[in-house]
Amino acid sequence: MNIVVLGAGRFGGALTRALVQVGYSVRVGVRTPSKPEVAALVQETGVFVGSPAEALGPGKQGPADAVFLAVPWPAAWEVAESLAPALSGKVLVDCTNAIDRNGLVLRSDTSAAEEIAKAAPGARVVKAFNAVGAELLAQPVVSGQKAHVLIASDDEGARAFVEEVTRALGFLPQAAGPLENARLVEAMALLWIRMSFQSGLGPRAAMRVLK
Ligand SMILES: NC(=O)c1ccc[n+]([C@@H]2O[C@H](COP(=O)([O-])OP(=O)(O)OC[C@H]3O[C@@H](n4cnc5c(N)ncnc54)[C@H](OP(=O)(O)O)[C@@H]3O)[C@@H](O)[C@H]2O)c1
Repeated sequence: MNIVVLGAGRFGGALTRALVQVGYSVRVGVRTPSKPEVAALVQETGVFVGSPAEALGPGKQGPADAVFLAVPWPAAWEVAESLAPALSGKVLVDCTNAIDRNGLVLRSDTSAAEEIAKAAPGARVVKAFNAVGAELLAQPVVSGQKAHVLIASDDEGARAFVEEVTRALGFLPQAAGPLENARLVEAMALLWIRMSFQSGLGPRAAMRVLK
């Protein structure tokens, strides 16, 4: 399976390492390839790194099966809009949190994922991994239990693909309904971020759904 990760910061770098570790072929799209963390990522994993458009190109292993958006808001929206033709038909996993120091930056009648779906209308958008810390990606088991990843999408095939990736990375997938529920998944992520970083839970705090 070929996966493109757009962004190579704390989250994109950790996601790329985790995907490579479990055997995915990964290409990474960045804005600034000269950054030391990008060089370290290439040295460690051997992944191809280029511009977002180059990363979405055919590559040696063939076209991407899925694209993970791992850039801050609103750059995520801009990247999705500018690459819309190349993203058409692809599973596009929105891992972003559209937040600033005051909270969610979008109105409650939309979400980052829904705005990205409008920006790249042919893409098969899935909201997932936005409440999974970069530290957790390297080791998804907390207190002996696998963390859950909430997955919202209107495209069942795309959701199934992301569930497969979720399991391969060592997490448990939890269907979270249609893409509209990204509004709620994103609000929950804000709570998780505040609890992790302001209320002392720490960056490895994880979600678990008990049934
Ligand atoms: N950190 C986490 O634990 C975590 C967990 C879940 C979700 N997320 C989400 O993941 C996203 C990235 O977070 P992060 O913590 O990895 O941030 P980060 O460390 O600041 O990294 C951001 C990455 O996005 C790239 N970028 C910024 N603007 C861009 C643009 N206009 N075009 C292309 N690339 C651009 C940056 O490239 P440059 O170096 O060129 O600026 C960098 O590679 C955010 O939406 C965040 O909410 C993060």
